[in-house]
Amino acid sequence: MPLLQGNLKGRDLLSLKDYTPEEINQILNLADELKASHKEGNQSSLLQGKTLGMIFQKPSTRTRVSFEVAMFQLGGHGLHLSAADLQLGRGETISDTGKVLSRYLDGLMIRTFAQKDVEELAESADIPVINGLTDLLHPCQILADLQTVREHKGELKGLKLTYLGDGNNVCHSLLYGCAKMGMHISVASPQNYLPAPHIVEEASSMASETGGSVAILLSPLEAVQDADVVVTDVWASMGQEAEQKERLQTFAPYQVNTDLIKRAKPDYIFMHCLPAHRGEEVSAEIIDGPHAVVLDEAENRLHAQKAVLALLMGY
Ligand code: CP
Ligand code: NVA
Repeated sequence: MPLLQGNLKGRDLLSLKDYTPEEINQILNLADELKASHKEGNQSSLLQGKTLGMIFQKPSTRTRVSFEVAMFQLGGHGLHLSAADLQLGRGETISDTGKVLSRYLDGLMIRTFAQKDVEELAESADIPVINGLTDLLHPCQILADLQTVREHKGELKGLKLTYLGDGNNVCHSLLYGCAKMGMHISVASPQNYLPAPHIVEEASSMASETGGSVAILLSPLEAVQDADVVVTDVWASMGQEAEQKERLQTFAPYQVNTDLIKRAKPDYIFMHCLPAHRGEEVSAEIIDGPHAVVLDEAENRLHAQKAVLALLMGY
């Protein structure tokens, strides 16, 4: 498989910031190829005999199942490591955990709170470390999103993607991903919930090299104008449950609904990483309507991650 050739072997995936547009394209191309091959009924042994440890310090449906199935479909094994069952929860250091697990495993996926914990794990581990979501970033989600946009729109460069709502982990990784791929991303969030300035700055500088652009706005109406892709996410992320009520009011004007979406292009697609709250960030009519591609997006977590695992952990 020529798509497996390259320099990704042994690399971590902590942020899309660390990947070039060519490397992201390589992942997306392999993801498409592995998806097609699996649908044809072919078996794969790309990761035969390899084990991925998966540390979860937050809940998950899609990330847990798609990584475990990805390892199985590539001939390897995914080992679920709940934080509650690890000595990590009793004060063993991240560094010792990373060093020890490197003696058993061939790769580590971690979902946690602080991005610096994932970075510390990657520094101490001798094996590839993959970010399965932090408070700051969600790179694996955005690889699946880019694969999904490409499938439905045929290309990425030049498309306008609008993200409405909280300037959170998904928004941050979308900023990097869209900027790297030459897309035009416009984000609209309430004043106190805008994406982190350093990420906006980095994404803007990436976009200036790829022909893309980054616009950060307060007005959802302005942001969604002529969008090819409309994306939203929950208004309160994992760990922010106490703020849920207050956020409901602040974010109400940012709901993706029939009224707002009229401003997007007639052939827009709607994406949401899920889990979704119908009646909050998106109306049921939109997420369950004909423009929504959320199930393709969820499915592509599997294919995009198979590509990442094969490239980072393969023989
Ligand atoms: N989109 C996503 O990461 O879903 P989970 O929280 O279910 O893994
Ligand atoms: N922003 C959400 C994404 C869930 C997949 C969260 O962090 O909870």
